[in-house]
Formats: sequence, C-alpha cells, structure tokens
Amino acid sequence: MPDRKDPLNNSFDSMRLIPSGGALGAEISGIDLSLPLSDDIKDGIRKALLDHCVLFFRGQELSDENQVQFTSYFGKPVQHVRKQRERRVKEIFIISNLTQNGEPIGALGNDEISFHSDLSYMPKPGTISALYAVEIPEVGGATQWCNCQAAYEALAPSMKGRLQGLRAVHRHYVEEQNPTYLVDHPVVIRHPESGKKSLYVGPHLTKHIVGMSPEDSEELLGELFAHQTKPEFLWTHQWQVGDLVMWDNRPTMHRREPFPATERRIMKRTQVFNDEVPVDG
Ligand code: OGA
Ligand code: MN
Repeated sequence: MPDRKDPLNNSFDSMRLIPSGGALGAEISGIDLSLPLSDDIKDGIRKALLDHCVLFFRGQELSDENQVQFTSYFGKPVQHVRKQRERRVKEIFIISNLTQNGEPIGALGNDEISFHSDLSYMPKPGTISALYAVEIPEVGGATQWCNCQAAYEALAPSMKGRLQGLRAVHRHYVEEQNPTYLVDHPVVIRHPESGKKSLYVGPHLTKHIVGMSPEDSEELLGELFAHQTKPEFLWTHQWQVGDLVMWDNRPTMHRREPFPATERRIMKRTQVFNDEVPVDG
C-alpha cells in the first residue's frame, strides 16, 4: 500500500506544488484526496492544472466514490463512452490488461498506445481525465505527455499561418466506437480558460486534414507529429501504486508505453465532460 508517513489534514498551507522540471506536469503533495477539500485548495488545484496541464498526487488511498467526488471538482464526471462490464460505480472505467474467465476486465491491453487526446473522435471530446494506479507492472507502462501549447508556440510563423483555419478528422480505430458521421476539429485550438493556442492533432486518432490530398495531409500531419514529440515538449510519469494523475486533454496529448503481457496493470479512470466543442484557435 502507499507509504503514508503522516496523516494529512488538508490545510491550504500544507499543500505543495512541485513542478516536474519538464515541459509540463507537477506534483501536488500534502493533500489527501479522500477527504473533503476546501474551496481554496480546489481553486489552487484548478490553477495548477491550467499552469502545468498534468498534475499528480502520490500515496492516495481512494475508494471509487472518492475518485468520482474529486473528479467532480473539475466538471461533470461521466460514464466512459466505451462499453465495459458491470461495475458498482458507473463513472469508474477500468484500464487493464488482465482477464477474468477469458474476458478483459478493462480496456487498452498492454501494447503501446500512441499520442492522443482523450475522446477526440467525439464531437465533444473529453476535457479532463484522471487515472488512479491500483496495480502497476515491474517494467514498462509509463505514461508520457506532450505540451501542445509549447509545441504550437515553437512553430515557425509561416507554419502557424498555414495551419490557421485547417481542420482534421479524428476517428477511433475500433470502428463501432465512432459516431456514424466523420468528426473533425480545428488543427489549432484555443483553451477556453487560458486563451492559449495548442496543436490538436496526434498520431493515434487524427486521420487526415479536411480538404487536402492524402499525400499532402500525411506529409503535414507527419511533420506536426514529429514536431510535437520533440524531447523538449515531453514529460514521462513513472507510476507508483496510489498515484492519482489528472490531465487537461485540450493543451496536451499522451501516450502509454507498452509493458510485458505477463505483467499486471490495473488503473481506475474517470472522465470529465464539460459539454465543449474544441474552440478554433
Ligand atoms: C487513458 C489512457 C494511458 C495509461 O486512460 O485515456 O490513455 O497509461 N491511459 O493507461
Ligand atoms: Mn488516453
């Protein structure tokens, strides 16, 4: 179980923000997410999420209800659009490679999942996601984020001009998962709260640029994917049991490293739905 030395009393003064030192990401320590949070703590966390895009809290002991409650501070926690077997708390979605009686207990298996923004194949994608680590593999299975605001900022002015007004089709590789129509989003979106622009494309779910030839689209997307995953825009989280990591899907993309099929990984996932269409940058 998580190693908790002192009981936490959730005072604003005991909360610490420790930036990862990378392109994004910060740890928040001194807070027990299973206990009620005061308004100043909630505001502090929301501000930290805007500033750092990904936050992690170590050593948490959370019930499903605790996780859903915490998620609700950032919008409406919803049941994931992907079907999953019966579970007690519907807003909890299991990410796991394990099977029980030959049936997967969760989603995503053990292979690599390349960079994406959650639910971008939907007209109103996910805004904020949270993952809570229950069991983690001995090797592999880290999660990596890229800072798509910093990546956008670093583009040449000519490229920024070229991207203006472009839209891209996003589609899930499991065909039934998609709406019956093609969903497209701006290639550059603007964060509704910070106003910052970011690249909103990733190799896992972004298929092609609307109105471009397949060759030109592939070339442009390939260039953007290579740009956004330069080391200076990345940060990797090495999981520990008891970590709760939350991220804002609008200014970031994330990928999951593979891990051996013989290892066990169980995560609990919650999703915020804020009824938002990505805003044209
Ligand atoms: C997700 C996801 C990555 C991971 O839950 O949306 O991409 O590390 N998970 O499990
Ligand atoms: Mn994801």
